[in-house]
Formats: sequence, structure tokens, C-alpha cells
Amino acid sequence: MATSLLILALLSLHLLFSPASTAETISANSSIADGQTLVSAGGVFELGFFTPPISTSRFLGIWYRDIAPLTVVWVANRQVPITTGIAASLVINGTGSLVLTDRSGRVFWSSAPSNVTGSSNPVAQLLDSGNFLLQDANGTGAVLWQSFDYPSDTLLPGMKFGWDLTTGLDRHLTTWASSSDPSPGDYTFEIDVRGVPEGFIWYNSTAPVYRNGPWNGLRFSGEPEMEPDNGNFRFEFVANRTDAYYTFLLDGGGNDKVISRFVLNQSSLQRYVWLQQQQAWSLYWSLPRDQCDRYAQCGAYGVCDATASPICGCAAGFTPASPREWALRDGSAGCARTTPLNCTGDGFLPLRGVKLPDATNATADASVSLDQCRQRCLANCSCLAYSASSIKGGESGCIVWTSPLIDIRQFQSGGQNLFIRLAASDLPSSRDNSKRKNTAALAVLLSLSGLLLFGFGGLFIWTKFFRNKGRFQSTRRLASFDSSNPLYPVQARNMEDESSQSNGLMDVTLFDMATISLSTANFATSSKLGEGGFGAVYKGELGGGQMVAVKRLSKYSTQGLDEFKNEVMLIAKLQHVNLVRLLGCCIHGEERILVYEYMENKSLDMFIFDKARSAQLNWSKRFDIILGVARGLLYLHQDSRFKVIHRDLKAGNILLDGDMNPKISDFGVARIFGGDGADSHTRRVVGTYGYMSPEYAMDGIFSVKSDVFSFGVLVLEIVSGRKNRGMYGSAEQTSLLSHAWKLWREGNVLALLDELVARECRDSEAALRCLQVGLLCVQERSEERPHMATVFLSNQRAVMPQPRHPGYCSDRGSASTDGEYSSTSTVNDITVTVVEGR
Ligand SMILES: *[C@@H]1O[C@H](CO)[C@@H](O)[C@H](O)[C@H]1NC(C)=O
Ligand SMILES: *[C@@H]1O[C@H](CO)[C@@H](O)[C@H](O)[C@H]1NC(C)=O
Ligand SMILES: *[C@@H]1O[C@H](CO)[C@@H](O)[C@H](O)[C@H]1NC(C)=O
Ligand SMILES: *[C@@H]1O[C@H](CO)[C@@H](O)[C@H](O)[C@H]1NC(C)=O
Ligand SMILES: *[C@@H]1O[C@H](CO)[C@@H](O)[C@H](O)[C@H]1NC(C)=O
Ligand SMILES: *[C@@H]1O[C@H](CO)[C@@H](O)[C@H](O)[C@H]1NC(C)=O
Ligand SMILES: *[C@@H]1O[C@H](CO)[C@@H](O)[C@H](O)[C@H]1NC(C)=O
Ligand SMILES: *[C@@H]1O[C@H](CO)[C@@H](O)[C@H](O)[C@H]1NC(C)=O
Ligand SMILES: *[C@@H]1O[C@H](CO)[C@@H](O)[C@H](O)[C@H]1NC(C)=O
Ligand SMILES: *[C@@H]1O[C@H](CO)[C@@H](O)[C@H](O)[C@H]1NC(C)=O
Repeated sequence: MATSLLILALLSLHLLFSPASTAETISANSSIADGQTLVSAGGVFELGFFTPPISTSRFLGIWYRDIAPLTVVWVANRQVPITTGIAASLVINGTGSLVLTDRSGRVFWSSAPSNVTGSSNPVAQLLDSGNFLLQDANGTGAVLWQSFDYPSDTLLPGMKFGWDLTTGLDRHLTTWASSSDPSPGDYTFEIDVRGVPEGFIWYNSTAPVYRNGPWNGLRFSGEPEMEPDNGNFRFEFVANRTDAYYTFLLDGGGNDKVISRFVLNQSSLQRYVWLQQQQAWSLYWSLPRDQCDRYAQCGAYGVCDATASPICGCAAGFTPASPREWALRDGSAGCARTTPLNCTGDGFLPLRGVKLPDATNATADASVSLDQCRQRCLANCSCLAYSASSIKGGESGCIVWTSPLIDIRQFQSGGQNLFIRLAASDLPSSRDNSKRKNTAALAVLLSLSGLLLFGFGGLFIWTKFFRNKGRFQSTRRLASFDSSNPLYPVQARNMEDESSQSNGLMDVTLFDMATISLSTANFATSSKLGEGGFGAVYKGELGGGQMVAVKRLSKYSTQGLDEFKNEVMLIAKLQHVNLVRLLGCCIHGEERILVYEYMENKSLDMFIFDKARSAQLNWSKRFDIILGVARGLLYLHQDSRFKVIHRDLKAGNILLDGDMNPKISDFGVARIFGGDGADSHTRRVVGTYGYMSPEYAMDGIFSVKSDVFSFGVLVLEIVSGRKNRGMYGSAEQTSLLSHAWKLWREGNVLALLDELVARECRDSEAALRCLQVGLLCVQERSEERPHMATVFLSNQRAVMPQPRHPGYCSDRGSASTDGEYSSTSTVNDITVTVVEGR
């Protein structure tokens, strides 16, 4: 019995792994069943049935025969998976369609019906290019259908990406739903032919995510790194009355072994090259490169420059349309004209080295010169800008825009010139003609303060951002925690698999409502300590005289049950001398209450911003508080078992015990991360203005570096005794960050110290260091902010980088001061590697 079972098992194993029988063609009388494959003549590609990783469904697809892991380039039945076990096969039916069907006649997929007559002899064949071709083998050999006309998520060499305008065939890429599910995902990459043809990545076919710009004879306007002929690839773009498509070819050059594919992977475009030596795919080029690749990042007439800070600027002759959002680093409202156009007296100012704006409503005419283009635009009052349609062998041809200019970005090299119509009064007067070129180059309010590392850091953050859009994939919320069970601390303990840390949980007590009510004299106003993030905090006294802080979450607070669970679970797990300790909690009907250890000295903001009480905090106390907060935060970020991002670090959330030891509190909005340290993104930005990092306030991207930003603000507040308020452009004079930065540049940063501590602070080096750290922590770009580990706790002698322009500081300085501080920031100078090709 056992033996026969074994044999059976072996047999079935054999069946699973037996080399599939292969064929070269499918004709009217043959078919491909699961287990059989079709192989191209040179053995490059293989067509057959496969199961994606993790999935249990079968799909008919095409993959590289000799490449492992399985790399699928085309899938037939994307919409209708075949349940494992169903015997489906691919046949050519009576009217010459390829049909994927099972015995019952259920159709999983079919090619478009082709016009076959009784005398034709349709034969399907897989070519070495990866094209699956259905041809009439009789007579003309006309192509009846081909897989290259219906791409999945991959472009192969020789494939046309774009339109056959005579038949209306639109060859575009649609991402897989996930790496284990080839069904059509949310993103598509498609040539838009409504105006001047250009490629768009769409989300849900409705929202543009990325635009590569009109073809300029050499490349797409938005992809200056694309070389027309770089030895490996040759790119072609055809746009005429009948066709509008892009294609790439591999330039053999004695190296015809190059294998390359171009994939739409969620919102990211990726070109891979197969490395024979390593037997691996190598990412050769990818998009988006940085935030400026995000469609319309800076709105109409805004110009995005990834090397500037902030990245959005206005074209010359324009000012931010919504200064408040602009100061919040939301440039999407764009820019407004300083002076309205007056058709007759207008002129043009060039914006040099840019990606041309959205050309969906633009019109092109290759037959005129750039000068004629200018005349044409000038003569038509609705023309807002013009540019050359080709830069191949000099600027020639004409594109004119009549809609607001959207999605312009600045390139360091390889960009094009855009001539923007401005009212005469916004044009430099003729006397300034010599300076004109300069003005144009500075047409954007960019700070040329050194090349920056955006290319790659930004790329990955951004890729993540789009991938995580609204899904919080890398954020683990404690959803499995069930608080309807009154014994949830027990449950919490059960979730705790490591006994080493679980003893902390023993201390979480479930209080009943009566006890809580009694302890706070029924939430008497007199026992109220303050209003916390999500409700009032009361002083309570438990039996035995133990003082506690009782946080009663407001019924209308935004903190939902999830957040409550989150906070309880988090704090229960986290044990550190600089974190406030949770003693227990209470759930009673709608009521949700947290009980903390009582901190006699309440919160830090009550001291540092209060003239009288701040005297109690001398320099060394303040320094100790900074160190304590840094330690607490470091623990959250890296030393606890989870990576915790606090997200609402501020003076009001730093509590002080009887000895003025700081403890971080209020984890209601904190997030736990798995060990991967991924940045995440949220639609719901919570936190406190003035402490929020630009990328978080603006884009909802949070990472440990958002906490570092808040920490930097806190440090500057503690040493200066001043509150950071001014985060709006208009209030820049009062912004602590601007002020600190100004003093730093003047070499007088010690003037920021609170008078009270300045008098007694002899250790000016420590103070200086503190201020420098504070400024480094509030850098606009998260990559330039230090990690908590390197903030204070490392070698005191370590050389620190010079801070640069902080976030939210709209005091931009002139070009000369930009130059001045760029020369001091050698530490941050990073060579930008330009990735070639596409
Ligand atoms: C297909 O099969 C039918 C009968 O089974 C036969 O008459 C016909 O010749 C075959 N056609 C081809 C192309 O082999
Ligand atoms: C062949 O398949 C196509 C596509 O599913 C269908 O329109 C056509 O009716 C089929 N022809 C026959 C003879 O079944
Ligand atoms: C089928 O043939 C008709 C008549 O010859 C033609 O008008 C039509 O465009 C053809 N359809 C396809 C899909 O080739
Ligand atoms: C091929 O086409 C010719 C005429 O176009 C016809 O006479 C012949 O029978 C066809 N052959 C097959 C196998 O269908
Ligand atoms: C996608 O767009 C359609 C309208 O075209 C809309 O109804 C739908 O809600 C959108 N889906 C998502 C996920 O945005
Ligand atoms: C458009 O370009 C394609 C490819 O070069 C060519 O085959 C086609 O004939 C052209 N059409 C017109 C109308 O020029
Ligand atoms: C999509 O991109 C990610 C990283 O950018 C990569 O790990 C993954 O393998 C890609 N998926 C495919 C199907 O290429
Ligand atoms: C437009 O400009 C011309 C010349 O600068 C001037 O004469 C005219 O009054 C202006 N018109 C308007 C409506 O401002
Ligand atoms: C100006 O341009 C618009 C948009 O291209 C066009 O509709 C209009 O006819 C043009 N007017 C003149 C006078 O050429
Ligand atoms: C193109 O024009 C339409 C209609 O005027 C407008 O709704 C749309 O926003 C314009 N698109 C761009 C990119 O300017």
C-alpha cells in the first residue's frame, strides 16, 4: 500500500516536472493544452500555461525560454484566470480566431475575429522576437492577428507602442494588478494623440501620473537622458497621419545577445537588461526619477526643479497663485501672472532647459521655422507659448500652446527652450538686454545650491509612494486586536511572542469605569490637566494615593477605535525611561480611556514658552531634556522591536516628571513599521503645523525623518525659548527656522539662545552643536536630515555637515548668497549619476 502510494507520488511528480512537449506552430487541426508549449524557432521565447508566484490560477503567456526566474512578457487571459485543474487548451476555431477554451466550451480568452475565408489556412507561430503571430499560410501570408498589437505590461524590441490611426488600434501597456496577479492593474502607459503625441502614465485611466513630453526629434522632451543612438538601443518615434508610435530596437553591434525589456510596473517605468554573466535582470533605467516627474507637481506655470529647495518655482512673470499652500510646499495651485496679457504689446521670455508643458491641447507644425513660429504665436492672442517641435540639428518647427502651461520641469542638461508670452511690463527692458540671458536662466526661482542626491533617493521614495497610494502596505496596523473583548490586555499578551519583553504588558491593567470616575471626581473640571491631542487629560488619584493621568478620548475625536488600540498596543510594548508609561486603560460603551503615569511637571511647552517658568530650566536642564527626547526617539526609531514613527512630536507631547526628566507621550497617531524601514504615505495627515516636515505636510510621506524634522524644531524651541509658528510665507519674519537660519548664516547663531540660558551658558561649543543639530534636523530634504542615532549619541567629536537652507524657509536669498552657502556644504555634495538610455 505504502509503496504504491509512493509510486503514485513519484508518478505525479514526474508529471509535474516532465519536460513539456513542445510544438512549433498551431494550425487548424492542432492545439496547445496545459503542459504543452510552443517554442520560437531560435528557442528564445516559449508560449504556454503558467502559474504566477503565490497564485493558484493558470494563465496562458509568453516568457523567455532560457531565463529563470520565469519572466512573463505577455499574458492572454488576463481578465479570466483558469482555475487549476481545468483542462484548457488553445485552438484556432472555424472562423480563424485563437480561442482559449475548455472542453465545456467556456472561453477564457480569444483573439479578435479575423476575416478568414474557406480557402485560408490560419497558422499561429511564436517568433524569436516574442511576437505570437496568426497568419494565413495560404496565399499572401497576411497577418490575421499578433500579440504585439495587444501588449500586456511589457514592451519588447520591435514592438510598436502607440496608435495605428487608420484602424484605431491603441497599443498601450497595462500594469499587472500585482506580481502574482496578471489581471489589469490601475496604471496604464499610453500615447495620447489628442494634441502633440506624448506618453502618459494614467492612474485608473483618468488621472495623469507621469508624462514624458512631446518627441523632439531626438527623444521625449521629458527624458533628456535618452540618447537617440547609444550603442545599445535605437529609439524611433513615428508621428504622421497614419501612425503615432514609439519603438526601440537593440543595436546588435556585434552584441546581439543583449536582452532587454521595458515594463510598466505599477506607476513606474522600468527598463531591464539581462546580464548573462550574473544570470540576472539588471534595472537599466527607471521612472519616476524624483518628485518633479509627478504630473503637474507645481501646477500651471509652475516649474519643478528637483535640485532646488523648495522644488517648485514660478516662471518669470508669475507669482504663486496660493502663497499659503505654496509655503506649505503644495505647489499644485500653480502660479498666476503678475501682469495680465495685453495682446498687442506682449513679448516672449525664454525658459531654458525644460521639459515642454502638457501638449494635449497644443498644435505642432514641423514645416515652419522657429522665427515664423514666434510670429505666428504673437499674432494670435490666445497663444500663450511656443517652442521648436524639433531640436534635431537645431531648433526648427513649431509647437504653440493655447492652454495654461502645465507640468514643466527644469533639467540640468538636455532640456528645451520654451518661449512664454508675457505682458510688456514683465519683460526685461531693452536696456537690460545683456542681462537677459541671465534672467532667463533664473526664470525659475531656483537655488543652484549644489547638485543633490534626488535622483535615486527620491526615486525609491516616490515609487513607494505611488505603490502605497492609499494602501498603507508597509504600515502594519494592529487590526487583529479585538477590544470588544474586555480582557484585551491578555490578548495583547498573547500576541506578544517574545517573553523577554512581555513583562511590560503585565503592567497594563483594565480599569473599570467606576474606578476612573471616582479617581477624577467624575471628570471634574478642577482635575483637568489639559486638552491633549484627542481629548481631555485629567489628574486622577487611585486608591493608595497613586497619582495618574487619565486621558479621556473625546467621542468626537478623530481617534477611532483603531487608533485607540494602536496606542494601547504600542505603549504596552514600548518601555523606555524617556517614554511615558501606560498603566492601563478602560473601555466602557463609547468611552475610551487611557491611564498613564502621572507627570508632576506636566508638559514641556508650559515651561519653555512661559517667561516665569522657563527660568527653572537652565542650560544643563535644557540640554538634558534634549538628550532625553533624543534617546526616547532613538528607541522608537531603531531600538525597540518595531520601528515606531511618532508623527506628532512637539513640546506639548514631551512630559516632565518631578526631576524634569522628559518623557515622550501621545502615541495615538504613531505608526509601527516592520523592520524594512520603508517610508510610507497617508492621505490623512495628522500632526501639528510648525512641527511637520515639508514632505509630510505636503505629500503625506512620513518616515523616521519626519520625526527628525519635528525633533529639530523642538531643539530650536528649547534652546531659544521661542515657538516656531511662521510656516506660512507671509509670516516668515516670525518663523523660528528662518530666524535661526539667518543667524547661522551671519555666524551669530548663539544669539538665538534664550536670554535666560545665554547668560549662564559657558559651554558655547555644546550650544553651538545643539543649534547645528537643530538646523540639520530641519533640512528641507529628508535625506539631508541625520538619523537620530547620529544626532547626539554618537561621537561628540564627529564632524557634522554644515546645515543648508531649512524647510519652510521662504527667505531664499539672492544668487550670490546661494553660492556662498553652497561652497560651505561640501559634505552634502554628491555626484549625480546619470542613467543612460531608456
Ligand atoms: C484537418 O483535419 C481534417 C480531418 O480531420 C483533414 O481533412 C484536414 O485535411 C486537416 N487539415 C490540415 C491542415 O491538416
Ligand atoms: C471563433 O471565436 C471568435 C472569438 O471568440 C468568435 O467570435 C467566433 O464566433 C468563433 N467562431 C466559431 C466558428 O466558433
Ligand atoms: C474583413 O473583411 C471586410 C471585407 O473584406 C473588411 O471590410 C474588414 O475590414 C475586414 N476586417 C478585418 C478585421 O480585417
Ligand atoms: C489556398 O488558396 C488557394 C486559392 O487562393 C486554394 O485553391 C487552395 O485550396 C488553398 N489551399 C488550402 C490548403 O486551403
Ligand atoms: C476610476 O474612475 C472611475 C470613473 O472613470 C470612478 O468611478 C472610479 O471610482 C475610479 N476608481 C478609483 C479606484 O479611483
Ligand atoms: C507614417 O510612417 C510610417 C512609418 O514610417 C509609414 O509606414 C507610413 O506610410 C507613414 N504614413 C504616412 C501617411 O506618411
Ligand atoms: C517592480 O518593481 C519592483 C521594484 O521597483 C521590483 O522589485 C519588482 O520585481 C518589479 N516587478 C516586475 C514584475 O518587474
Ligand atoms: C496695451 O498696450 C499698448 C501698448 O503698450 C497700450 O497702448 C494699450 O493701452 C494697452 N491696452 C490695454 C488694454 O492695457
Ligand atoms: C488662434 O489660435 C486658436 C487656437 O489654436 C485658433 O482656434 C484660432 O483660430 C487662432 N486665431 C487666429 C486669428 O489665427
Ligand atoms: C485642454 O483643454 C480642455 C478644454 O479647454 C481643458 O479642459 C483641459 O484642461 C486642457 N488640458 C490641458 C492639459 O491644458
